[in-house]
Amino acid sequence: MSDGNFAATPRVDAHDKVTGAPIYGADRRFNGMLHAIFAVSTIVRGRLTEIDIKAALAVPGVRRVLTHRDTGKLKPDGFLLSGGHSSQGIQPLLDDVICHRGQPIAMILAETLEAATFAATLVTARYKQEPFASTIHSDGATVIAQAASPLPQQLFGDTIAGDARAALQRARTVVDATFTSPPQHQNPIELVATVAEWSGDMVTIHEGSQNTGAIKFGVARVLGLDPEQVIVVSPHAGGGFGQKNSMQMQTALVAWAAREVGAPVKMVVPRTQLFHDASFRPQSLHRIRLGADATGRMSGVLYDVDAQSSRHDLFPMDYANAAARLYGIANFRGYQRIVQTDVQTPGYMRAPFEHLASFALDSAVDEMAEKLGQDPVAFRKRHDADTDPVTGLPLSSRHLSACLARGADRFGWSRRTPRPGSMKLPDGTLIGMGVGCGCYKAATAPAVATLTLRRNGTAEIAVGVHEMGQGVRTALSNAVGERLGIEPARVTALIGDTRGGPQHTTAGSWGTATAIPAAVEAADRLMAELGNDPVATLAERGIDEHVTRIESRPPNQPDEMASRLHIGQPAPWGPIYGEYVSYSYAAHFVEVRIEPSTRRIRVPRVVSLMDCGTVVSPRTAESQVRGGVVWGISAALREASEVDPRYGGFLNTDIAEYLVPVNADIGTCDVDFINSPDPRLNNTGVKGLGEVVMTGVVAAVSNAVWHATGSRHRDLPIRLEHLL
Ligand code: MOS
Repeated sequence: MSDGNFAATPRVDAHDKVTGAPIYGADRRFNGMLHAIFAVSTIVRGRLTEIDIKAALAVPGVRRVLTHRDTGKLKPDGFLLSGGHSSQGIQPLLDDVICHRGQPIAMILAETLEAATFAATLVTARYKQEPFASTIHSDGATVIAQAASPLPQQLFGDTIAGDARAALQRARTVVDATFTSPPQHQNPIELVATVAEWSGDMVTIHEGSQNTGAIKFGVARVLGLDPEQVIVVSPHAGGGFGQKNSMQMQTALVAWAAREVGAPVKMVVPRTQLFHDASFRPQSLHRIRLGADATGRMSGVLYDVDAQSSRHDLFPMDYANAAARLYGIANFRGYQRIVQTDVQTPGYMRAPFEHLASFALDSAVDEMAEKLGQDPVAFRKRHDADTDPVTGLPLSSRHLSACLARGADRFGWSRRTPRPGSMKLPDGTLIGMGVGCGCYKAATAPAVATLTLRRNGTAEIAVGVHEMGQGVRTALSNAVGERLGIEPARVTALIGDTRGGPQHTTAGSWGTATAIPAAVEAADRLMAELGNDPVATLAERGIDEHVTRIESRPPNQPDEMASRLHIGQPAPWGPIYGEYVSYSYAAHFVEVRIEPSTRRIRVPRVVSLMDCGTVVSPRTAESQVRGGVVWGISAALREASEVDPRYGGFLNTDIAEYLVPVNADIGTCDVDFINSPDPRLNNTGVKGLGEVVMTGVVAAVSNAVWHATGSRHRDLPIRLEHLL
């Protein structure tokens, strides 16, 4: 077990990154490469009855215009969560059915991007339109109880602990509140993009991805290839946040088109198309009924969620599990309903469920503390849990109370006066202080790790994980370097590359907890083979390099689940590991300032405390937390994908109109870690960080807004017009 004291080494790729050296998917250029652009549907739902590509074909530089009439031999692969590898169950361009606004209807291939882009505007189509539903409140939206759906119930059934109804009936104090979030889109800096290049009967796909394994198997299935004919390369992704965790709508089509035209093909999905051609955070509504007994202890929660899916897929949700785990509340019932609307299938967007579950539950908890006249921090600490509230199993580790205590200290919580509106600057600016907590499952995936040590004292670790900017290369170099006794900078990582071994999707905050323990296990094996000074052993024996390969899997994971790694299917495990349950925890303290006349909301400072087990790479971990806090502020105060129900789809499809914070919106963001190794989960004591960082932020912001103004805001985003 590591002592949890990794040094704050610089990012191993820092110099490369600031000098522009890393090659991202769309940076690949090949001789004779063609540029591809989609023409897209202008209706929401119906059939394509006619498509005219003549004008597009006549544009100088245009080589081909491909439509559903050309794709005869291709087969759809299917939705990632129902056995396929795609972001959704429909593969555009395979037939004439239109399922959402912006769905691709033709692919233009041209010698220049400009020619392709212009030609796409000249494609005309006729449609037979059908009525559609664009929001969860629209006529024609279909509501399905998730627990009565065909989804696997051991994963997606209702979350039940004790008898929440009875607890609510007996409760002395009840908070009954409904919270809403609009749809939102990730907008990573690196756009969704694919470059495909054939060499004989082998195709190489360059695509910024969190899941090169899914692309390998997905492209093979759509094109009818052996997966061994497909290589997928993603050394860096410029942000993923869940939007890149499966095969994209264009991926297989770009590979196919490259074979059709006999030239490498590149498609960069323009940002404005990304709003309809990639996954997003679905619209959702959360009703919390929270009861406390005569002693002032919270005793029961009824949590009802409606969340948006597409008409063609059941996107499974998991809001209730995180809500059930946040505090030691004995009785809990989660009831989740999928609402099918006419959009592309939504997907996972950073802390996809836990972020809003923590907003809803922890805002209600704040209201309960208010009703009972209790300090919000002390009230939360009184509801700590020492066993898992749902299963009754022990928790592998939980330090939420320590997060609250240390956070309150660093923040200066004792200076807060309890009455809302009681803290003001001389100019009338209202000050609000709020706290919010969250939790996120500590999941793990199986992995294959291959460690090569060379006589010159350098090493390469090849393992199934993707670098999306979170810093996993640095974490790998730190962990392997520490074990082998060599400088972290001398350890390189071959990751996000199907040539380096099976590549499981890097999502669900299991990346570090998967790759690091596997890499460390490989390092331990290598040390067992070569002794305590392995570089010296190589020199003594006159060997140039030594290769060690291990296959790791999560504790108590059955074979058939672990083996999904080898077919490009998700194989995560946890938070229930048989004998215990594992979660990471966060506590955020937020100060807001509300300008008296315009009601402009500012967030000058945030203090965040994390319990994520061992921190393997302190510098990149801190940066992860800041990113999550910024996004939480953004989700609380800015982001919404706007919908006009008359037209369907999304309206503000660029980052001028899709509001995100700018630097001036973010004040200080103070981060600290409990950094206590989780002794039961793995050899390094890592739990997981990428998503828990964002949970609880929105609750902290909205609780602070309440403290400043005395009014509760339950519909996101909270904008100044709501405070007037
Ligand atoms: Mo993440 S939203 O699980 O890629």
